[in-house]
Amino acid sequence: MTTTVPPVPSGPPPVDAAHDPHLSGVFEPVIDEIDAGDLEVTGELPPEMDGMYVRNGPNPRFTPLGSYIYPLEGDGMVHGLSVSGGRARYANRFVHTPMLDAEIAAGRALWGGLMTGYTPGADEVGPSLAGTMKDLPDINVVRHGGKLLALAESAPPYALTPELATVGRETFGGSLPAGICAHPKVDPRTGEMVVFCYGLEAPYLTWSVLGPDGGTRRAPTAVPDVDTPVMIHDMAITERFVVLVLGPMYFDVAAAMRGGSLLAWRPEDGTRIALIPRDGSPVRWAHTDAFWSWHSANAYDTGDGPDATVVLDYVEWSRPGGLSPNTSPIVGGITRAEIDPVSGSITRRFLTDPHGMEFPRVDDRRLGQRHGVIALGTKTGRVELANGNFDAVLWLDTATERAVTWDAGDLSVGEPCFVPKPGDEDATHGWWVTFATDRTDRSSWFVVFAAADPGAGPVAKVRIPVRVPLGLHGAWLPTEE
Ligand SMILES: [Fe+2]
Repeated sequence: MTTTVPPVPSGPPPVDAAHDPHLSGVFEPVIDEIDAGDLEVTGELPPEMDGMYVRNGPNPRFTPLGSYIYPLEGDGMVHGLSVSGGRARYANRFVHTPMLDAEIAAGRALWGGLMTGYTPGADEVGPSLAGTMKDLPDINVVRHGGKLLALAESAPPYALTPELATVGRETFGGSLPAGICAHPKVDPRTGEMVVFCYGLEAPYLTWSVLGPDGGTRRAPTAVPDVDTPVMIHDMAITERFVVLVLGPMYFDVAAAMRGGSLLAWRPEDGTRIALIPRDGSPVRWAHTDAFWSWHSANAYDTGDGPDATVVLDYVEWSRPGGLSPNTSPIVGGITRAEIDPVSGSITRRFLTDPHGMEFPRVDDRRLGQRHGVIALGTKTGRVELANGNFDAVLWLDTATERAVTWDAGDLSVGEPCFVPKPGDEDATHGWWVTFATDRTDRSSWFVVFAAADPGAGPVAKVRIPVRVPLGLHGAWLPTEE
């Protein structure tokens, strides 16, 4: 009689998911890809609302090996909530990278977490995937130039079908082989999509422009005076400039090779803001004391003249605490920087009490122009919540600098996203939407707020028949004619 001995799994051991706040509770990954129609609605979905809210986020298919750092890794999963004629349906799909599909075929995780550096060999994944890092298109989604893209951090995105099936890695006809950032900005005036990309080798930072048809209008162009690999997560645009905030967070490959941290925070260097003229003329710099920003809300020029100021609204943190969970608490708040592109002078002030908030969004029709309301997730402080978990939504009217907050109670809420009323330029006639999950019974909901009075709470709640884990960024995709 012969017996078959199963192969011993290679690689680091699985992490303790039950005790990882970003792998358990409202963050616990889901496995099934489902479609569900005719969902139960409490209240009334606006009859004019017609489109799909799509949200991306890390959702490891298998328990990660060795390490797991939220929000930097995990297989991408997109969740789509479609609304039409007052009815709603839901679908979710993994972003099927070749690495994820290899793991699904094996029935277990094969790649180690980012901190382990472990990659599987050809005996496990074949020669084409051996030694590769995992693609991680798990951060954001954007639709531009006829393509729906799941976005990674400074890497090629993955194209999806309108039904959220994966098409494959997108390099824009080979013109952007190194990829793009997770937060490209589509200029509503020109239809252009402006992107940047950072890398570990020179040129460390480039920017590019895709035309409204998705074709490359500006090939990757190096940002000068960046002589070290630096991490930049988000960007902003004005009519004149691409705006990049360079906090002193560097990649230190030598330290990582010695077993240290790949990322180094060096506050003595201060923070620099690059104003990159979109016409290709020389880059202007502003330099200030060190702060960190994951996300911008928007930026704009205060006028047409050469001496017009650039206003940048963003969430400022004293340092990047999300990557150093064992350090003391830090807080973040919406901040306004006013930058003189001629002199490089800069002033900064909080527009809100800095008590911890993230994921700022505006009406995307105002990107690059003077905006009205900024919406974002925030914390009541009533309960201890992990990074990326919020129990309230805050709307700041930047004209009056008055804020309203909706206390979500037992619900954990994600990034708010603005939905315009079709054919209506008035933002107060639109809505804000997001996914929310109840921390007590783990039921998940799609919630809709009237932009005219969001603090009054949702005008509609759609019950989703499965749990939607908390995640990162989303987009409203109006139904196309
Ligand atoms: Fe982000």
